Amino acid sequence: MRFLQVFLKDNWMENFGPDTFGLLNAEDYDDLHNPGTTQATVDLIAQVASPSSKLLELAIGTGRIALPLVHKGFDLTGIEGSMDMVAKLRAKPGGADIPVVIGDIADVDIEGTFDHAFLVFNTLFNLTSQEAQIRCFANTAKRLKPGGTFLIETFVPTFDGFTDHQRVSTKRLDMNSVWIEAATHDPIEQLFAFQRIRITQEGTKLVPLPMRYAYPPEIDLMARLAGLRLRDRWGGWDKSAFTADSKFHISVYEKPLGE
Ligand SMILES: C[S@@+](CC[C@H](N)C(=O)[O-])C[C@H]1O[C@@H](n2cnc3c(N)ncnc32)[C@H](O)[C@@H]1O
Repeated sequence: MRFLQVFLKDNWMENFGPDTFGLLNAEDYDDLHNPGTTQATVDLIAQVASPSSKLLELAIGTGRIALPLVHKGFDLTGIEGSMDMVAKLRAKPGGADIPVVIGDIADVDIEGTFDHAFLVFNTLFNLTSQEAQIRCFANTAKRLKPGGTFLIETFVPTFDGFTDHQRVSTKRLDMNSVWIEAATHDPIEQLFAFQRIRITQEGTKLVPLPMRYAYPPEIDLMARLAGLRLRDRWGGWDKSAFTADSKFHISVYEKPLGE
């Protein structure tokens, strides 16, 4: 149990490295992480990119978005922190042919330049410090061609259901199992600490996840520091308007021509 060594330490959030998510989730990721927006995500990314574009997916995971894009004919490279997630990608039809660089999306050294990069499903927030998120923008901007774009998708932080900076909620429930999520909130560091507690007839599985959230204006500032500017922002994959009620946003940042 490799992950136990990580979580037996007190400062588990700091020890949550680029491969920890995969250690905990790769086995059942495809069964349990379906936001219901996969096709719409693929369609919008395909629209933002021109057909001959070179794409870079940060945190490619098991290929939920990458594989359909490759099947559409895109030339795509992935970055991923977890060999366990990549093993799942490799086992799928076409998954063995996608180049993947193993490393941290904040710092990884990757060769070549790309027309469009993307980081979806709240994964920017898996980087648990503002510093690491800033480095992720800078590292990605460096790899974009002039005129290239960086698309991100994150939730808009909300504290619904929190009392005294904590919340417990039921995610799934059936005759034989329950999935409960306990969460604490640190407003100083903008950190959520989640513990997903899955109880079945076979026993209990704990799946922790730290997330460092940021509101869109802070993310825009990170992009500006990296020399990128906001080109589009939507409140849904159908390009619906981003409003005060939007639960998440899709933001497209552009590297200006001539830089
Ligand atoms: C929510 S999943 C998203 C995977 C895929 N993009 C998708 O949409 O299904 C988050 C992914 O980010 C990876 N990850 C988390 N932190 C990372 C880091 N610092 N560097 C590289 N990959 C990381 C995890 O291993 C996991 O594959």
